[in-house]
Amino acid sequence: MSKRIVFEHICEIDSTNAELSRRILSGSLIAPLCLSADTQTSGRGRRGRSWLNTDGALMMSIAYDTAGIASEKLPLISFAAALGVHDAVSKHISCIAIKWPNDIVCTDGDCIEKLCGILCELVFAPHGAAFAVIGIGINVNSKSLPKELMMPATSMLLKLHAVTDVELLKKQIALSVLERLKGLKTDFENTISEYSLRCITLNRAVIASSIDGRIVAEGVARCVLSDGRLVIETTAGEICVDAADVSIRTSGRSTE
Ligand code: BTN
Repeated sequence: MSKRIVFEHICEIDSTNAELSRRILSGSLIAPLCLSADTQTSGRGRRGRSWLNTDGALMMSIAYDTAGIASEKLPLISFAAALGVHDAVSKHISCIAIKWPNDIVCTDGDCIEKLCGILCELVFAPHGAAFAVIGIGINVNSKSLPKELMMPATSMLLKLHAVTDVELLKKQIALSVLERLKGLKTDFENTISEYSLRCITLNRAVIASSIDGRIVAEGVARCVLSDGRLVIETTAGEICVDAADVSIRTSGRSTE
């Protein structure tokens, strides 16, 4: 029998991911645990970026013991997490998709706006157990979004013109993420195939840039490999890129 998830909420913290990591490193964390906060003073984003507080956002992190997930499948945790968040959020809002690797976006033709970001980290406890810390920041009831964001962003409120029950959404997200993580133990191929069906990046023209802004591949995103890398078809042949090394800009859908 799998353990029931415990929910904990705090008003203010530096980062819910950082707090769960500290508890794992000190050996005091009992997983699964979901920690949410009203405010983060030092929210973390992917690839060393920061995550800004937004009024009406849901900020939560889930700690999960990865025992039972084969070590070569650990990179797929971030894809399973995106699927779990997509499962839960699509109960409230249609027209959402996953942008590789794990942004949840709202789509309207060629207009793609970020709704949610996910930061997955692997943290080792003193006794050697590997825990995944899955941080989720989602613009739920945000009336406006900061201007200085990397890509156009939106909120559920702006799309639905109605307030969403944040407590309900938090529980739905936590439970569906846990379900998807359990699925990785038995059927990881299903994770990649279902992920690919919901991934808006595929069959679109993309530009992959390294952390220093250098373009490493420009072409059409074709598929996601079983280790999570994205295959980009370029004029010079296929290039496989890793989410840890590149960010992707998506342009129009390819007709090729
Ligand atoms: C990204 O899009 O770059 C990922 C953003 C993840 C933000 C969330 S908010 C809750 C959790 N705590 C953090 O410090 N970061 C994640």
